[in-house]
Amino acid sequence: MVIAVDGPAASGKGTIARALARHFGLPHMDTGMLYRAVALSMFRFGGDPGNEFEAVRACEGVAQVDPGDPELRSEAVSAIASRISAYPGVRSALLERQRGFAASSDGAVLDGRDIGTVIAPHASAKLFVTASPEVRAQRRVRELLERGMPGHYEDVLIDIRARDERDSHRQAAPLKQASDADLLDTSDMDIDEAIAAAIRLVEARL
Ligand code: C5P
Repeated sequence: MVIAVDGPAASGKGTIARALARHFGLPHMDTGMLYRAVALSMFRFGGDPGNEFEAVRACEGVAQVDPGDPELRSEAVSAIASRISAYPGVRSALLERQRGFAASSDGAVLDGRDIGTVIAPHASAKLFVTASPEVRAQRRVRELLERGMPGHYEDVLIDIRARDERDSHRQAAPLKQASDADLLDTSDMDIDEAIAAAIRLVEARL
């Protein structure tokens, strides 16, 4: 059983994917963390995010990045991740790691942007989780505050819109709903309602 969860930044897809993994007893991979790890390694050790070759080389360092490093979620690293994820060379360098995880005999839940379209096109269930940019910006501001990294709503909203634009319009594996994915708009839901709705949608596909 493979569950693909895709959607834009701060849509709630990560929380939903973790809850689905717990509910169905499946291992979970947050694929955005791979792109963030490449970005962090460039941020720390130098490397021009405008140069595809350097970004591809940084993919070799992904396994060395501590997944608990708080810097992975910083706005600077998020911005670099969004840029370098547009490179076909970066996407293909990270492809096998994700496909291998999806092919595990235990089944898997993966969340990202292209799970239902590229990584696991034959997933048992696919969710496309979204919410309005304003709601997502409010959530991100709250999340940043909880991490002790306050951000301004207007700046965060601009950043979310810019990331949506880049993620949806890039040539390589753009963010888009797979034709056989269920749409889950969480704009008017709290997280418990969103998780309950996600479980219902997945169960209906099994
Ligand atoms: O999901 P998250 O915000 O952590 O992802 C960080 C960045 O990595 C996103 O802006 C997106 O551009 C990229 N990404 C991607 N494909 C994925 C997961 C994330 O392009 N499957």
